[in-house]
Amino acid sequence: MPGDWKDLPKDLVARFDALLAPVLQRYPPDRKEAAMLPALRLGQELFGYAGPAVQGLCADRLGTSAARAEEVASFYVMFHTHPNGRHLVEVCTNVSCCLAGADRMFRDLRKRLGLAEGGTTADGRITVREVECLGSCGTAPAVLLDEKEMIERVTPEKLAKIVEGLP
Ligand code: FES
Repeated sequence: MPGDWKDLPKDLVARFDALLAPVLQRYPPDRKEAAMLPALRLGQELFGYAGPAVQGLCADRLGTSAARAEEVASFYVMFHTHPNGRHLVEVCTNVSCCLAGADRMFRDLRKRLGLAEGGTTADGRITVREVECLGSCGTAPAVLLDEKEMIERVTPEKLAKIVEGLP
């Protein structure tokens, strides 16, 4: 995806504008910047990730700077500032999960997939990310698959089997 929002596909930008319009109605005209979270989320859904181009688009529509959009996009873990692989494996390494061995499991998974610093496999199949608490501390360690399937009480063996089975 290009870094300039003006290079984004025009039809998707039009769709973004159409979907953003009703959202902006909930904000005072002089406080449009406050809609940065829903705007980035919408941009991510439409364009696949909230990289510099989407950040620039959101900033333009909300009348603020691209730096402001980048601050928000890079602060919240639910925003992806780089393209993901076909599957997204998010491993919680916060306190409860860490105490249950999640950090070692995360390291082992990266090693098994040949990812030095997390990231995406060379074939674009899997992205592995370390995330903050997934809200499943009582059943730690927890892994979120493709942003919809919570896997609880994960073991390294169980995780390896799941990852191997991903198309
Ligand atoms: S600490 Fe991992 S789910 Fe809460």
